[in-house]
Amino acid sequence: MTGEKGVILSGMRPTGKLHLGHLVGALENWVGLQDTFKCYFLVADYHVLTTGFDKSRDIPVNTHEMVCDWLSVGLDPERSTFLVQSRVPEHSELNLILSMITPMPWVERNPTLKEMIADLDLTGKIHFGLMGYPILQAADILLYRADLVPVGEDQVAHIEMTREIARRFNNLYSTVFPEPKAKLTSTPRLPGTDGKKMSKSLGNCIYISDNDEAVKAKVRQMVTDPKKIRRGDPGRPEVCSVYSYHEIFNAAENGDIAAGCRSGQLGCVECKGRLSGAIGRRLDPIRERRKAYEDDPLKVKKLLAEGSELAARRARETMALVRGAMGMEK
Ligand code: TRP
Repeated sequence: MTGEKGVILSGMRPTGKLHLGHLVGALENWVGLQDTFKCYFLVADYHVLTTGFDKSRDIPVNTHEMVCDWLSVGLDPERSTFLVQSRVPEHSELNLILSMITPMPWVERNPTLKEMIADLDLTGKIHFGLMGYPILQAADILLYRADLVPVGEDQVAHIEMTREIARRFNNLYSTVFPEPKAKLTSTPRLPGTDGKKMSKSLGNCIYISDNDEAVKAKVRQMVTDPKKIRRGDPGRPEVCSVYSYHEIFNAAENGDIAAGCRSGQLGCVECKGRLSGAIGRRLDPIRERRKAYEDDPLKVKKLLAEGSELAARRARETMALVRGAMGMEK
């Protein structure tokens, strides 16, 4: 570990408001790391362009919404550094250098990238920057000489490649970078309200910023066990999306709910009502904190400018080490 505290870096693409999957899969985990580690949280705006170069104008609003979510869940700019990728030009500089030492087959075999190309049906529409994005991500991480990267399962291949690139740089020149490790969350993936993967493009998300009314309406539409048609019919919690939410948002009642569902005593309408209540209790303090920021884009902008400046100091230090190791400034 570098320094007294280990360094953490994680980031998200600013594509708008975040949902409950982000909350339990990533953000609550990030919040808990802030005292133990020096944390950098990255607004990965250049990464948006890898598949959305025609949506550059949406980035400011989407950044505001995403960072409001970060602040409202308890990420704290007093303890952690928030930065915007495009405001710290060293990300691009290190990306260029690392791309020189990364063999093409490493890029071509990346399974996450292959999946993304298939999921988004990008075959035939792939740009050079998309192929190179795992290298940009490696630069994001190595620029802060991070030790740990809290991410979801889908990002593990990128962290693996980051380790390989770090090792290669250190062997070729001299040791500058720690080999960062992925830090996975234990929370199971939260399904969308239709039981499929929660995703904005599928319109099945409950957002962190949803009010009580919106939460209730969405929970009411959630899919349940298709064999449980009316109250009195026994249900199977293990196939019910509502129950998988109870496990995460309503741990105190979930045993009782599973038993009620199995026996048929508990109807889906009541079960859903109890879930909306539990989600509401989890979101209330978040809603309270959000008030201080949501109507004040300037405050958020200022905080990002300050964070990016602070981050740039560390980034400049790293680049000095990189240039020194490479012996380019003789
Ligand atoms: N690729 C990540 C995603 O799609 C976002 C990201 C960019 C990131 N740079 C990063 C995550 C660095 C962790 C570390 O979610």
